[in-house]
Amino acid sequence: MQEKFNQIRQSAIESLASVTSMREIGELRAKYVGKSGEVTSLLRSMKDIPNDQKASFGKMVNDLKDEIMGYFNVKEAELKQKELESQFEKEALDITLPGKKVVAGNLHPLNIVKNEIINAFTGMGFEIFEGPEIETDYYCFQALNIPKDHPARDMQDTFYINDDIVLRSQTSTGQVRVMENKKPPIKILSPGRVYRSDDDASHSPMFHQCEGLVVDKGISLCDLQGLLDEFVKIIFDKQTKTRLRPSYFPFTEPSVEVDVTCSKCHGKGCSLCKGTGWIEILGAGVVNKKVLENCGIDSNVYSGLAFGLGIERVTMIKYGITDIRTLFENNVKFLKQFDRR
Ligand code: DAH
Repeated sequence: MQEKFNQIRQSAIESLASVTSMREIGELRAKYVGKSGEVTSLLRSMKDIPNDQKASFGKMVNDLKDEIMGYFNVKEAELKQKELESQFEKEALDITLPGKKVVAGNLHPLNIVKNEIINAFTGMGFEIFEGPEIETDYYCFQALNIPKDHPARDMQDTFYINDDIVLRSQTSTGQVRVMENKKPPIKILSPGRVYRSDDDASHSPMFHQCEGLVVDKGISLCDLQGLLDEFVKIIFDKQTKTRLRPSYFPFTEPSVEVDVTCSKCHGKGCSLCKGTGWIEILGAGVVNKKVLENCGIDSNVYSGLAFGLGIERVTMIKYGITDIRTLFENNVKFLKQFDRR
């Protein structure tokens, strides 16, 4: 019997030595220690073993089974390791090869500045309102106190789609749309595209504005000045000052034009500010009572301030850009200069 044991052990060891795949190991496992394998079938001779030796025989069979399983486990681990190594070899990367450069885009300068303007005003409690770019004559002009034959229409060369539909020439349209739908207190900023038939180094047929509107009890020109003083310090730098000059807009009374100290020379006078030390950045004023009334707001109770600034203008001042057209030519060399990474 001992010989039979030795023979099985020996043949298992020898067969294992030449195994090269997990599949073969599986087959050998079945052959030796499987349900009807050689070791298991030894138990079948149990009936021929004298009773007093049955226990030690059973133990010997189990020991042999454990021993052979141990060989299988060792071989299996070896094979797995080899398989891993050959897989690593196949998948090896040459880390000395030069990488492929991924070209990432960056925000357009107008979007950078638009975001800065939005952040500045939302930080002061303004909500964002975006109105349509194709507007009716009513929202673009009439509700803003510019009737059909008003000379102020000449201030803006408007694109007409038909007698009544226009490409909005100013974001002031947003004022009316908001006031019609919202009761004071109102504090909104309306950024967006506007269109005018104009095309030279400082005008583009499509450009961007940001309209601001505050309506509440007791709003005055002082609030406007305080608000803009704060805004220019955020958008330019802490030394920037504002100056209000009397002006005329049909939708504000009084109306002002607002200048800031030149961002290049800080007020001394240079080529950017044409020697004056000041640069105009926006139009503003106290909302004309007629506009409030047109929108159903009682002008005896409420008053408002409004302003409209050109995003291109602020961008050009901030970055010293002298020709507005460079902002729309999509020259990657130009745009890459605004990459902040
Ligand atoms: N809408 C004016 C323009 O495009 C700018 C403007 C001036 C807006 C005065 C205002 C304002 O809200 O009060 O020229």
